[in-house]
Amino acid sequence: MASTDTLPQAPAATRTVLDFDAVLRTHEAVSRILPETPAWSYPLLNAEAGVDVVVKHENVQPTGAFKVRGGVALMAALGPEERRRGVVTASTGNHAQSLAWAGARSEVPVTVVVPEGAPARKVAAVRALGARVVVEGETMCDSLAHAEDLSLVEGMRMVSPGDEPAIVLGHATVYLELFRRHRDLRTVYAPVGSGSGAAGACLVRDVLAPECWVIGVQSSAAPAAHRAWKSGQPATVHSRTRVAGLAVGASFALTQSVLGRGLNDFILVDDDDIQRAVGLMSTHAHTLAEGAGAASLAGLLVDPARRGPCAIVCTGGNADDDELAGIGRSAITDEVALTC
Ligand SMILES: Cc1ncc(COP(=O)(O)O)c(C=O)c1O
Repeated sequence: MASTDTLPQAPAATRTVLDFDAVLRTHEAVSRILPETPAWSYPLLNAEAGVDVVVKHENVQPTGAFKVRGGVALMAALGPEERRRGVVTASTGNHAQSLAWAGARSEVPVTVVVPEGAPARKVAAVRALGARVVVEGETMCDSLAHAEDLSLVEGMRMVSPGDEPAIVLGHATVYLELFRRHRDLRTVYAPVGSGSGAAGACLVRDVLAPECWVIGVQSSAAPAAHRAWKSGQPATVHSRTRVAGLAVGASFALTQSVLGRGLNDFILVDDDDIQRAVGLMSTHAHTLAEGAGAASLAGLLVDPARRGPCAIVCTGGNADDDELAGIGRSAITDEVALTC
């Protein structure tokens, strides 16, 4: 764990608001709109993992991913002028769908900048939800810079996917629901892109289950947050991952300020580990997961020191065509293994 005196500092205006009371207040707003999601255990998955595993199902959210909680929390926190002017962000998909869905419900105009090559189905879903889509930039970093420009030119509120307290608090509500029902957990694996979900897990764990370990899981092909956590310094690393939800090229100061003191460990998995976990979610947990939604399972399975009972979060089910085809391949391999 990085020592606290070298941690990147969150922007001053956001430093004090990330605490458990704020998570509780945010959950009041979020739960008025989004019902609690289910959490189940599956015998085959427990056998594969060698420990008892609770799977929290965020894939059943209306947008198919946990990110919708952040969008709902953000809209609830906007002032009247911000609501009128609208919001702008950059995203490869699930954060975008989140703001589009919540914006449509709250009558707040939403603009989303997506990088060229963002998953077509996710972009179509954002448009279908009524948001304006602007395709600009080769990477997420380029798209974020363009979103900042648009916010200045058009007067919209810029929403960072990571450096935004309302979003982190919204994502923390996943873990509030989880820990309220499962106080005995010894380990929770949380997927990391910007780190907003994992930061939310730490905020809740600190109060409801202080003995439980929170372990971040990131793709080794997009390890910016991992590098920042290790070094205590901001990091930018070009993303090469196939896993769209984890394709983030830079660390975020706000989430790192929580992860630095909160994560007990941080595991890197490769994209093939994640693809295998997508297959296992399908065959062992009756669940269609996208890569990012299966990353916490991938982390659990490569962790030699796993301690149960543990929890993973299926953070999203918006699998792209390659991920869907990969499930077919792993299911065939599994079938062969069972029949030999
Ligand atoms: C399904 C899914 N899981 C996990 C993540 C990573 O979450 P975070 O950016 O909060 O670290 C994302 C990010 O978009 C996602 O879409």
